[in-house]
Amino acid sequence: MTDRTVLISPSLLSCDFAEIARDVAMIEAAGADWLHVDVMDAHFVPNLTIGPPVVKAISRVATVPLDVHLMISEPAQYAEAFAKAGAYVLTFHWEVAPSTEAARTVIQAFRDAGIEKVGVSVKPDTPVESLTDILDEVDLVLVMSVFPGFGGQKFMGEVLDKVRWLRAQGYQGWIEMDGGINGETIAGCAEAGTDVFVAGSAIFGAEDIPGTITELRSTAAERMHVG
Ligand code: DX5
Ligand code: ZN
Repeated sequence: MTDRTVLISPSLLSCDFAEIARDVAMIEAAGADWLHVDVMDAHFVPNLTIGPPVVKAISRVATVPLDVHLMISEPAQYAEAFAKAGAYVLTFHWEVAPSTEAARTVIQAFRDAGIEKVGVSVKPDTPVESLTDILDEVDLVLVMSVFPGFGGQKFMGEVLDKVRWLRAQGYQGWIEMDGGINGETIAGCAEAGTDVFVAGSAIFGAEDIPGTITELRSTAAERMHVG
């Protein structure tokens, strides 16, 4: 049905922040395709994580692309800072720019800053149909399968309909799923049409990290080609 490639993007939110360089090297050696970096501002979400200086430090030691997920209220204002910090994919939330016009302004700010791949994300209670008029303008849609803010939450299976809808519209870009992905939940995501898989606790909490990434990849690849 498709020749899409599975991309595994481990979320550094679950790494040891006192040992970021060590964990980045470890997770890359274990097979990570991208590194997912969760930026939170304690305003859009009830948690506060890292900003451009730390992303820049990560990019200094990383050899795979940085997949930066902005959970912040003013993404356009920080586009340049994150571009300079080394973001490859930069994703903003539709909820902070909830109209076609407002979202286009953010997308343009990202492109003007030199971001290569622009992503837009929807929370579990935001209809994906809202994105209809900007689908042609983004490289990635990030479908949240938990409410953003924290790692280790339970996967919300009902969001798989959003992925199916996007593929039914003919959306050819990357569809990324984030929140509660593990060896069980990844199968349905892949079957629905997801090709980029974020996992934090399932990867960093595993005893055998390379084995877990290999297993996630093979389960996803198997299901992706069904139907
Ligand atoms: C949640 C973040 C996720 C989180 C995923 O707001 O966007 O990237 O780190 O963690 P797990 O895989 O543990 O649900
Ligand atoms: Zn994330």
